[in-house]
Amino acid sequence: MSGNLSPIDTAKFVAAKRAVDFVEDGMRVGLGTGSTAAWMVRCLGELVREDGLRIQGVPTSTRTAELARKVGIEVISLDEAKWLDLTIDGADEFDSDLNLIKGGGGALLQEKIVATASDRMIVITDATKQVDTLGAFPLPVEIIPFGWQTTKALIEETLAGMDVLGEQATLRLNGEAPYVTDEGNHIVDLHLQRIGNPRHLSLVLNQIPGVVENGLFIDICDIVIIGHGDGRVEVN
Ligand code: 5RP
Repeated sequence: MSGNLSPIDTAKFVAAKRAVDFVEDGMRVGLGTGSTAAWMVRCLGELVREDGLRIQGVPTSTRTAELARKVGIEVISLDEAKWLDLTIDGADEFDSDLNLIKGGGGALLQEKIVATASDRMIVITDATKQVDTLGAFPLPVEIIPFGWQTTKALIEETLAGMDVLGEQATLRLNGEAPYVTDEGNHIVDLHLQRIGNPRHLSLVLNQIPGVVENGLFIDICDIVIIGHGDGRVEVN
């Protein structure tokens, strides 16, 4: 599965491989979205097919659901699972408090719901995503399509009073059309450079009418597994 990988894919693969060591027989597992999470789903699939591991997976996107089924993982909905033992997912940024920015892949809403409904969340990542202060990666905010320009303007107005460096918000596009999430919503990416108080920003953003959820994951992640291009793995 891992033959001849680039250093970045090696980093993602070794982090994913280490993370599946935390998965035990009978667990209900949240399956994240993105290229790193895809490695984890493939590793889990291998354990299911070759070692007889019995798990039920709750995917965080249609993409992940398709991959999970393809590799042999039993897929159930969150409503069927109700609560999960563990979620394993990627991230776009993480800081020393294990707070995250997620949603680069557009799946932040399901990802946050699933991670929050889990006893533990493990993030798998490469070292480039570790930051002192969150914010260099544009913060995704999921908004409903109705009145999206007004919601975007309200977000920008709100940012003007916050402890952030930038205030620019851009609608995420898919070609020339607005990007549409699995829930039929749009995403606005906030170019903030530095988020002084992520907890406060997260609460304030979610107060704005039209905002469904934002990509700040505060106090949700329990463990970060960092893979390196030379095959080393750190568990924090
Ligand atoms: C998707 C996410 C992803 O976990 C995040 O974008 C990282 O993706 P990748 O592993 O491809 O770098 O939050 O919404």
